[in-house]
Amino acid sequence: MKRIALLTSGGDAPGMNACIRAVVRTGIHLDMEVSGILNGYNGMIHGDFVPLKSDSVSNIIQRGGTILRTARSMEFFDREGREKAFKNLQKNKIDGLVVIGGNGTFTGARIFIEEFGTPMVGIPGTIDNDLFGTDYTIGYDTAVNTVMEAVDKIRDTADSHSRLFFVEVMGRDAGFIALRSGIAAGAEDILVPETHTSIDELIQILEHGFRKNKKSGIIIVAEGDDAGGALEVAAKVKEKYQFYDTRVTILGHIQRGGSPTANDRILAGTLGYAAVNALAEGETGVMIGVINKNITYTPFEKAIKHHKNIRSDLLKMARILSS
Ligand code: F6P
Repeated sequence: MKRIALLTSGGDAPGMNACIRAVVRTGIHLDMEVSGILNGYNGMIHGDFVPLKSDSVSNIIQRGGTILRTARSMEFFDREGREKAFKNLQKNKIDGLVVIGGNGTFTGARIFIEEFGTPMVGIPGTIDNDLFGTDYTIGYDTAVNTVMEAVDKIRDTADSHSRLFFVEVMGRDAGFIALRSGIAAGAEDILVPETHTSIDELIQILEHGFRKNKKSGIIIVAEGDDAGGALEVAAKVKEKYQFYDTRVTILGHIQRGGSPTANDRILAGTLGYAAVNALAEGETGVMIGVINKNITYTPFEKAIKHHKNIRSDLLKMARILSS
């Protein structure tokens, strides 16, 4: 393995740059030449390859986003696009690829390996933490901290006005961001797609809080919850329970930006280092993860298909602690 290439794909996540730095410098340490591919799989199709040296990745460990840029590539879904991408890999004499991303990225990688046999390893980079085969994905911890800080601020105004806030957080169809940020911010309830949401039960929680003299409340709603987004849930609650003056905040893409936390930088470095070593040792078709502090290899198929369980005992704990 003399020449490797690296790309980031799908939604950007804080810590991707720290991971790019780790991949580049580990590759150089192993006497490899490293190329960056710009704009995810689109760049592979259009031949956007750039050489990456040690100083190309200086001073990026602390930066959010991705210096390689990213995309959700539609062209890579077509065989024709993938053939062009393979020709570009051959033209640039690439022996192996490191892809940083989430579900879509690894789905593409799996098909590409099947069709062309290029050795590829994946690194989980998504704020959603929705990949099987790793305790945490790069960007998740930063997103959770961003939500926590935002909710702390919302609580100041909620408390001052005696209001009930419904705060919608990202996660696509997974409730990990909601669960952890909700515990950290002391939310009165956390609604996640993995469990059925009962509006009546939510109202009971609010009434219980009111009886205990709570002046305000914060309900975290994960996008993808079965009762709807924060606007919909707020309307459903309001229909049956008018006590509180309610407001809705949708945090949106603020959750994807910002300087990565120490946890995300360390995870990114650890996974980047492990991924290049895995490629060098002949691994392919696997996502590199960390489970209980140990490096693990999970086949792409398993990483994307299995849904990591949300811990319902933690949902229960969050309710008790905020009651
Ligand atoms: O996968 C990351 C994520 O931010 C999800 O939480 C969210 O559902 C989605 O991407 C938003 O995608 P986009 O930025 O393409 O609108």
